[in-house]
Amino acid sequence: MARLEDKVALITGAAAGIGRASALLFAEEGAAVLLADVDVEAATDVVAEIEAMGGRALFVATDVAEPEAAEAAVAQCIAAFGGLDIVYNSAGGATQDDGKVSEMPLDEFWRTMGVDLYGSFLICRFAIPHLIERGGGAILNTTSIRAMKATQGADAYTAAKGGVLTLTKSLAQELAEHKIRVNAVAPGVVASERVQRMMGDVAANPLAQATPLGYGMPIEVARAALFLVSDEARWITGVILPVDGGAAAV
Ligand SMILES: NC(=O)c1ccc[n+]([C@@H]2O[C@H](COP(=O)([O-])OP(=O)(O)OC[C@H]3O[C@@H](n4cnc5c(N)ncnc54)[C@H](O)[C@@H]3O)[C@@H](O)[C@H]2O)c1
Repeated sequence: MARLEDKVALITGAAAGIGRASALLFAEEGAAVLLADVDVEAATDVVAEIEAMGGRALFVATDVAEPEAAEAAVAQCIAAFGGLDIVYNSAGGATQDDGKVSEMPLDEFWRTMGVDLYGSFLICRFAIPHLIERGGGAILNTTSIRAMKATQGADAYTAAKGGVLTLTKSLAQELAEHKIRVNAVAPGVVASERVQRMMGDVAANPLAQATPLGYGMPIEVARAALFLVSDEARWITGVILPVDGGAAAV
């Protein structure tokens, strides 16, 4: 039996990178997948890929940092698939504008807070009542090696992902009585197309160089995500799982 048979998953940031790899993998494992993303063209392609392999998927254009849009994505998921079991907040990512507190553009602070932290908060806010009504479920957030290790040089993103990390733990405590598990993945250097564009030679990046197993690919994080949202992880909640080639251990 497929590992997500009869489950409905809402994945943000599912048009690219780790979110895209997860959408394809979750669908392959039997889930109906709602893709919430701002990138209409790329998300439409992912839906077509899932449908071509016999899976079920729907795209809802969603800026997760907008409350109305986050609420609508959750509502459309319920309307289309009749429920919601899994929420995976993957939308986000650092940009070249981030940097030191005293030097970076102030707008970048609110951009990353909006997408990475507030976006995860909002999707949880609107999804949790449905998960409670369903009798349980799994929420998976996305933090980062940068928050795990408080690395220098991307202070806004690091702060946003630090918020995601602690929010994950407090939600895990609050929601356990409703049989809702809340975990997070903390990726290291993952060569998504965005990261390849930003870094150029990913292998030469200092963080990748300092990673025992070197940099990873989106599918590695997707596989960890699949485990954490599946029933195989039914006794796991409040965990921040580094998926980072050993970077957090150094
Ligand atoms: N790639 C890495 O090295 C790495 C490392 C640590 C953490 N992460 C985290 O993993 C997640 C995925 O990273 P990735 O490298 O796959 O990124 P990506 O850029 O490949 O994909 C991110 C997706 O999010 C979407 N998105 C951006 N803003 C959005 C918004 N406001 N509303 C809805 N969707 C939005 C984009 O359109 C894109 O499809 C992010 O949260 C990122 O911070 C990535």
